[in-house]
Amino acid sequence: MQSLQDKASEWSGVAAADAFAIDDGNIFESLGGTPQPFVDLSTNFYTRSAIAPLFPDQRLSALIRTDLDFLLTSTRFIPGSNRVYEDDEEEWFREIFSGSKKEDAIQNQYEFLIQRMGGPPLFSERRGHPALIGRHRPFLVTHRAAERWLHHMQQALDTTESIDADSKVKMMNFFRHTAYFLVAGNEMTRKQSQAVACKHATSKPAE
Ligand code: HEM
Repeated sequence: MQSLQDKASEWSGVAAADAFAIDDGNIFESLGGTPQPFVDLSTNFYTRSAIAPLFPDQRLSALIRTDLDFLLTSTRFIPGSNRVYEDDEEEWFREIFSGSKKEDAIQNQYEFLIQRMGGPPLFSERRGHPALIGRHRPFLVTHRAAERWLHHMQQALDTTESIDADSKVKMMNFFRHTAYFLVAGNEMTRKQSQAVACKHATSKPAE
């Protein structure tokens, strides 16, 4: 039988080796070792109102890095209709997120990304094991939903200046593979509640 990993590779078109190239180095450290780039990315993904902080200087970014409210009010507003919470083109997709508060969704995502890209385990400390398949069980994670999610993530990456091009490619491969891993997991479990041990959600081991 085809494993979830195999399905993820086949459906996403991304080989496992490319999906987990994020582990070849430490992306969190290479991006400056602060949460800022990940806060930028998740903010862009969910609201796309923030393209760049008004304080691009890393030292100032470090000072404001955990103050999301301040960050949201201190960013240049760039209009756009294609963010998750304002997805006017694909209302069905926006609906998937209707039960989640935007600020919570942003924090959940950036804490997970920080942890998965080699930073401190912020997500697990606050939310427990990522157990991505189990956490997505309430939602209809279809092939179509995965493509829409990836569309938003590609746009968010494109507009996040604090992440370099090489990291963007690696992160997008990881996202493509993980999205289809979740589609496969959603199909498999649908109504079950079990965490499937996977490499997508592990914390980076200490060097
Ligand atoms: C949370 C949908 C793909 C990681 C969520 C939530 C929804 C959702 C509706 C709830 C928002 C919240 O309250 O945090 C989807 C759909 C996907 C998808 C439709 C399409 C395939 C992904 C991918 C990743 C991911 C590819 C990781 C790379 C997460 C994380 C959370 C989350 C970490 C927070 C879970 C929590 O804190 O309980 N997702 N997602 N998702 N998603 Fe996804």
